[in-house]
Amino acid sequence: MASDRVVDLLRKAYADEIETVMNYQTNAIVLDGVRAEEIKESLQTDIQEELGHAEQLGQRLKQLDARPPGSAEFTARQDSLQPPEDSTDVLAVIEGVLDAEEDAIATYRDLIDAAEEANDPVTEDLAVTILSDEEAHRTEFRGFEKEYRSE
Ligand SMILES: [Fe+2]
Ligand SMILES: [Fe+2]
Repeated sequence: MASDRVVDLLRKAYADEIETVMNYQTNAIVLDGVRAEEIKESLQTDIQEELGHAEQLGQRLKQLDARPPGSAEFTARQDSLQPPEDSTDVLAVIEGVLDAEEDAIATYRDLIDAAEEANDPVTEDLAVTILSDEEAHRTEFRGFEKEYRSE
């Protein structure tokens, strides 16, 4: 039997991934301008990865005799990732992405600890793999942030 904490964190992570997909997609569409092109492309690539994370988390929940949440159980949390009023405000989106990635990193770290404590190496391994993807996303957007701040 999986620990409640592992299941709770898997469900939280699943919902966060889905919210991330929604906001990355929206921002990839909303942003305007030559300077936004690279960010939009990067967001499009990440959308596929985040969707893949959600799928893996959902499958793991199923293996643990649990299930991922549907929209009725969903609570939106990504305030800083809402599409900016000014559609050329690329930096606002970059900062929102960094918040989302930091939040994901914290969740996967918690999941790694919880899975280790519950003696659930399969979930732990999944969380480590996804954590490394999120750290790569953060590094990429930190690079964008540096560039935009220096302009
Ligand atoms: Fe993700
Ligand atoms: Fe990510």
